Amino acid sequence: MLVSGIEILAKANIDGYAVGAFNTSNLEITQAIIESAEELNAPVIVQVSEGAFNYAGGKNIANIVKTMARDASVPVALHLDHGRDFGILMRSIRYGFTSIMYDGSKYPLPENIERTKRIVDMARAVNISVEAELGKIGGTEDNVSVSEKEAMYTDPDEAVEFVKETGVDYLAIAIGTAHGPYKGVPHLDFERLKEIKSRLGMPIVLHGASGLSEEDIKKAVKLGVNKINIDTDIRQAFAASVRAYLDENKDVYDPRSILGNAKKAMKDVIKKKMIMFGSDNRA
Ligand code: G3H
Ligand code: 13P
Ligand code: ZN
Ligand code: NA
Repeated sequence: MLVSGIEILAKANIDGYAVGAFNTSNLEITQAIIESAEELNAPVIVQVSEGAFNYAGGKNIANIVKTMARDASVPVALHLDHGRDFGILMRSIRYGFTSIMYDGSKYPLPENIERTKRIVDMARAVNISVEAELGKIGGTEDNVSVSEKEAMYTDPDEAVEFVKETGVDYLAIAIGTAHGPYKGVPHLDFERLKEIKSRLGMPIVLHGASGLSEEDIKKAVKLGVNKINIDTDIRQAFAASVRAYLDENKDVYDPRSILGNAKKAMKDVIKKKMIMFGSDNRA
C-alpha cells in the first residue's frame, strides 16, 4: 500500500529500527526495491532525486512507483530526495509523492528555517510528510580537513530550534557521512547523534549510508536513526552486474535479460540492507 512517510517512520521510531530509503530512476530499480520489501515483509521508502525526476520524467516515475506501491503487500512511501527547486517540489506534490525533502542546508540557519517552514506549511495542507536537512552532508570528493568537516556537522542546539520553528516530520543530520563511495574510512560522530536524538525524540535520517560498515550502521540505528538513504551501493551493484553479464555473454542483446540479471544483483544488496537496518518483518 502507498502510505505517507511519517506513517512508516513513526512506527520505526517507536520500535527502534530503521527503514531503507532507496533511490530509483527507472522501472527495474523500482521493481528491485519493492520486490525486496515484499519478500522480507519490510516497509520501504522509494526515493527520487531531482536528477532522477528530470531523467525519467517526474510524472512517469511517480506513476511507476505509485502503481507498484498500491499493489504491494507492504507499506511503501514515495519520497522526493534533496528537493531544492520550488517547481520540482510543487510538481512532486501534484504527482502524488507522499513525502518530500526540502534541502535548504546550504543556507544560513534563519533562511533555512524560513524556506523549510514555507514547504512544511504547503505539505501539511495536503497531508504529505516533510524531511529537512540541518548541517552539511558533503560528497566524498569534497577536499576538506577534519576541522572543516566538523564545522559542517549538525549543532544540537540549532537542531532543537530548527525543528521547533519549522515543524518538520524527520530531520537529516550531518555526523560525518558523505554521498558517493568513501575514499578513506568514515568516522561518525555517534555522540552527536545520541545527543540530537535524545533532545528531539523524532525520526532521524542518515544520508550517504552506502559504503558504511555493518557495525556503524547498526550503531546508528541503535542510537536513533530511522531512515537510511542508499543510492551508490545499488548503482555499483547494477553497473558491476551489467559489465560482467555482457562480458560473459557475448551474444546477449535483449535488454530484458541484461536488466533482469542486474535486478537480481540490486535485490541482493537491498535485502542485505533491510536486514541490517532491522526493517524485515515489520510491515
Ligand atoms: O543525494 C544523492 C543521491 O544519491 C542522488 O544522486 O542527484 O545523482 O540522482 P543524483
Ligand atoms: P549514498 O551515495 O551513500 O548512497 O547516499 C545516498 C543519499 O544520501 C541520497 O540522499
Ligand atoms: Zn542525500
Ligand atoms: Na556514501
